Amino acid sequence: MADARSAPAFRLALPDATQSYEQDVEWCLVDDGSGWRELRFHDYSDIYQVPGLYERLFYEVLQCQSPPVVCDLLAEQLAGENVDPGSLRVLDVGAGNGIVAEELRARGISKVVGVDIIAEAKDAALRDRPEVYDDYRVVDLTDLEPGAADEIAGGGFDALACVAALGFGDIPPEAFRAAFDMVRDDGWLAFTLRADFLSDTDTSGFSGLIKSLLASGELEELGAVTYQHRLATTRAPLHYRAVVARKRRSLA
Ligand SMILES: C[S@@+](CC[C@H](N)C(=O)[O-])C[C@H]1O[C@@H](n2cnc3c(N)ncnc32)[C@H](O)[C@@H]1O
Repeated sequence: MADARSAPAFRLALPDATQSYEQDVEWCLVDDGSGWRELRFHDYSDIYQVPGLYERLFYEVLQCQSPPVVCDLLAEQLAGENVDPGSLRVLDVGAGNGIVAEELRARGISKVVGVDIIAEAKDAALRDRPEVYDDYRVVDLTDLEPGAADEIAGGGFDALACVAALGFGDIPPEAFRAAFDMVRDDGWLAFTLRADFLSDTDTSGFSGLIKSLLASGELEELGAVTYQHRLATTRAPLHYRAVVARKRRSLA
């Protein structure tokens, strides 16, 4: 853990809690020595460049619980099937600055490859948690060069983790599908997404994708839990669903 995370060199302010914003337009004010500036929560490249800001904002102030919740669920399922976590090579999609990889390693998973669409995420991971990734790629999963998926997957990952990164202008369904295709048959999936993205009224495309994967037999859900992902800036809870599943050979 970087020293900067325990002694942040910035000031942070949130909007009035009576003002409600959708998740993709939530914002904060940050002063890291050069004056106050407004940052959207989804301005990840700016947030990652301020050491400790991501952890302070999302994990301390807004009490994000997603990484431990979904990693515990994965660990329980692995234990239930007598799978040694140390045998798994995991693809962490939307990896950010490495919090999920740190949680996976804390549960005995020893090989983690990170993927994120922005270079600032990789830079922050190398700065904040240099020991947690075996490899870290900056790629757009919807626009991979020919052969890139096979080269990254190296015969297929044993598991995919994708935490707090699906939807809302982040990882779209087609990128999730591309990551899914990098997992070997019988491999594991551990992901979180907003609970209403799995509802019948969902317009994000995830409900349709997950339902079609279940219907085709390509996905077998093993465990799921609805939980408080974090607080909104109104301090109201945002509910997500953590899912652990296995990739099965298509029935088609
Ligand atoms: C809320 S952060 C989550 C980071 C980390 N998983 C965690 O739980 O702390 C979402 C991450 O998804 C990344 N992301 C957004 N769109 C992406 C895409 N199309 N492909 C890969 N990563 C993406 C962002 O750059 C950001 O680092």
